[in-house]
Amino acid sequence: MKHLLKLLDLTGEDILGLLNLADQLKYELKHGIAHPLLQGKTLGMIFRKSSTRTRVSFETGIYQLGGHGMFLSSNDLQIGRGEPVEDTARVLSRYLDGIMIRTFDQSEVETLAEYGSVPVINGLTDFCHPCQVLADLMTIREHKGILAGLKMCYIGDGNNMANSLIVGGLKTGMKVSVACPASYAPDPRVLDFAAGFGDQLVLTENCLEAAAGADVIFTDVWASMGQEGEAEQRRALFRGYQVNRELLAAAAPECMVQHCLPAHRGEEITAEVFEAHAEEIFDEAENRLHAQKAVMATVMR
Ligand code: CP
Ligand code: NVA
Repeated sequence: MKHLLKLLDLTGEDILGLLNLADQLKYELKHGIAHPLLQGKTLGMIFRKSSTRTRVSFETGIYQLGGHGMFLSSNDLQIGRGEPVEDTARVLSRYLDGIMIRTFDQSEVETLAEYGSVPVINGLTDFCHPCQVLADLMTIREHKGILAGLKMCYIGDGNNMANSLIVGGLKTGMKVSVACPASYAPDPRVLDFAAGFGDQLVLTENCLEAAAGADVIFTDVWASMGQEGEAEQRRALFRGYQVNRELLAAAAPECMVQHCLPAHRGEEITAEVFEAHAEEIFDEAENRLHAQKAVMATVMR
């Protein structure tokens, strides 16, 4: 594995290998066992969008691995003034040992990897959020002991999270059901991929149908970063797509609830359900650290 650009590029084995390493790194951290796997290495972290979890977990993670993280806001880089990503990639590759990027277009991440000579890690694009879904799969496995055969349900916008959950879930043997309005379905590239898995993916507009017998239910914001201008319209359109008590009643007993955060209580999830599942949700947030350390240790070593 040279980069982490999207989960579509990984095999199920790659994903499980990363989860195993993440579990090991988490164990070592909790038991005071140092793991300086990236001693002296520098990770540049380019952000074109806001972040709490991704920024802090990557910076802490590279430090715990013996390296150094450098926060690079696109507002302060020449890339924010129009310097081509092709040139930025070639310049940064002369200084850094790895680049994490959070941006809008997936093509920018792919170009960075194509023109640069160091590993590139996708910290979220409009298309996908692979680091988040590695942490999500890690959290499910921690709580349920297994992934293959479980049913994952996603409620809401067919956005970057939906895209990565479908790919990550199917590649690790899960059944995936997604409830979203027809005009906000997941990306066609993801649906094409899923077509090879037959009825392992169910796409519906009916939330209760999607949630029936689910072992884990995911949701995400109705308006993602960059869609703030459409927030009102989306609020009206997605109103029925909420994770609430009625929805959970349709799921399997002991169904987990996951949310990548930030959450909008009263919109995609009720405050009641959020608080009842807060431990799982904050385990999920914590696991960003461990999963991303596994990614960095794999691609930057
Ligand atoms: N879930 C997630 O990626 O959070 P941030 O936007 O805070 O990084
Ligand atoms: N879909 C959300 C995820 C945030 C972590 C967004 O892109 O804003």
